[in-house]
Amino acid sequence: MTYFAHESAFIDAGCEIGPGSRIWHFCHISSGARLGEACNLGQNVFIAGGVIIGDRVKIQNNVSIYAGTTLEDEVFLGPSCVLTNISNPRSQIKRQHLYEKTLLRRGATIGANATLVCGIEIGRYAFVAAGAVVTQDAPDYALMMGVPARQQGWMSRHGHVLHFEASDDTFVASCPESGFRYQLENDCVRCLDLPEEQSLPEELSAGQKSYPDFKAQHPDSNSEN
Ligand SMILES: CC(C)(COP(=O)(O)OP(=O)(O)OC[C@H]1O[C@@H](n2cnc3c(N)ncnc32)[C@H](O)[C@@H]1OP(=O)(O)O)[C@@H](O)C(=O)NCCC(=O)NCCS
Repeated sequence: MTYFAHESAFIDAGCEIGPGSRIWHFCHISSGARLGEACNLGQNVFIAGGVIIGDRVKIQNNVSIYAGTTLEDEVFLGPSCVLTNISNPRSQIKRQHLYEKTLLRRGATIGANATLVCGIEIGRYAFVAAGAVVTQDAPDYALMMGVPARQQGWMSRHGHVLHFEASDDTFVASCPESGFRYQLENDCVRCLDLPEEQSLPEELSAGQKSYPDFKAQHPDSNSEN
């Protein structure tokens, strides 16, 4: 199996693209970029040379990924979100050798129109809300919201706000969609039912109900964590 690229896309010589990846209208993949397997790039996506992208990554329309960025497996980039690679750009000063690194760890989501200031790490399954401006690292499963982004809580792998309750010496929450239990300890969240590095089983990877429907069913989930 090979990859698919729409006829309007530019794929430079010298980039690597994994099998099963799909690259849609007006994308540009630069020489030296590495894209994994089964990725989906929407319309007008730019990938610079040196960028490393894992497997099963989804990138929505109008996203540019600049040198210095690494996306691990199963990252989701919402439409028109913005990544950066120089904190203090000036047209008069050459800093192409000084790109600052940004790492998006496995399963992280960046909401539509959010901006990531460079030099940060977004943890596994962290969730950046639409329109947020993130200037600092985000821990695994963190929900980051606002301008500047602040951590507002924790999101499950299925993208639901986790409400922790005390259980013995720790705090435990369960995801209303998967039933997976999560533990909060020392300000770190871990899934008790599936290792973070493991992909979801097939039967848990198709959504059955919308986010508003889940919230209507669990009205307490609108309250504070
Ligand atoms: C983060 C998100 C999942 C909502 O989380 P939530 O905790 O369920 O939020 P709620 O709707 O209960 O709102 C809680 C509060 O946060 C605010 N809020 C919600 N989304 C916000 C956002 N993106 N930025 C800032 N504030 C936000 C609400 O106004 C509300 O504030 P209030 O308590 O003062 O009224 C959603 O807003 C979001 O950003 N989703 C990403 C959508 C996206 O980008 N999709 C891309 C693919 S199409």
